[in-house]
Amino acid sequence: MIRFSVNGRDVEVDVEAEMPLLWVLREELGLRGTKFGCGIGQCGACTVHLDGRPQRSCMLAAGAVEGQQITTIEGLGTPEEPHVVQRAWLSHQVPQCGYCQSGMQMAAAALVQEQQSGAREPLTDADVASTITNLCRCGCYQRIREAVLIAAGEV
Ligand code: FES
Ligand code: FES
Repeated sequence: MIRFSVNGRDVEVDVEAEMPLLWVLREELGLRGTKFGCGIGQCGACTVHLDGRPQRSCMLAAGAVEGQQITTIEGLGTPEEPHVVQRAWLSHQVPQCGYCQSGMQMAAAALVQEQQSGAREPLTDADVASTITNLCRCGCYQRIREAVLIAAGEV
């Protein structure tokens, strides 16, 4: 058994320690908002937070998250109370097909949180571009960067 917390809820799963966290979330816990894209750590569609830091869950073994706190897109906000990143996404009409967007929002939320905690200087467009390396096949990068700056209170 592997025990950890997901979106504030304690869970235990009976899986091999090597199973990627992405599959545990999707197949064992039914949290399908986290997407499979490349499976090799490149695209970021599978991004979740591990103790507040963005991680690509396709590259994270279930055994490595024992006792830790995971947040997925299902835990970032709600339709009634969207996260500040999600409000910016909505107001800026960011998504196109949407496939990359949960991973993008998780990466963006971690960056905004880091900036708002005072851990970094005010964000610039270049900071967002170099920090959020997730891929978007629809090419929404410009709107993504603008929405992150809105969420961070930079514009
Ligand atoms: S599916 Fe994990 S980085 Fe692409
Ligand atoms: S919105 Fe389609 S892949 Fe990003």
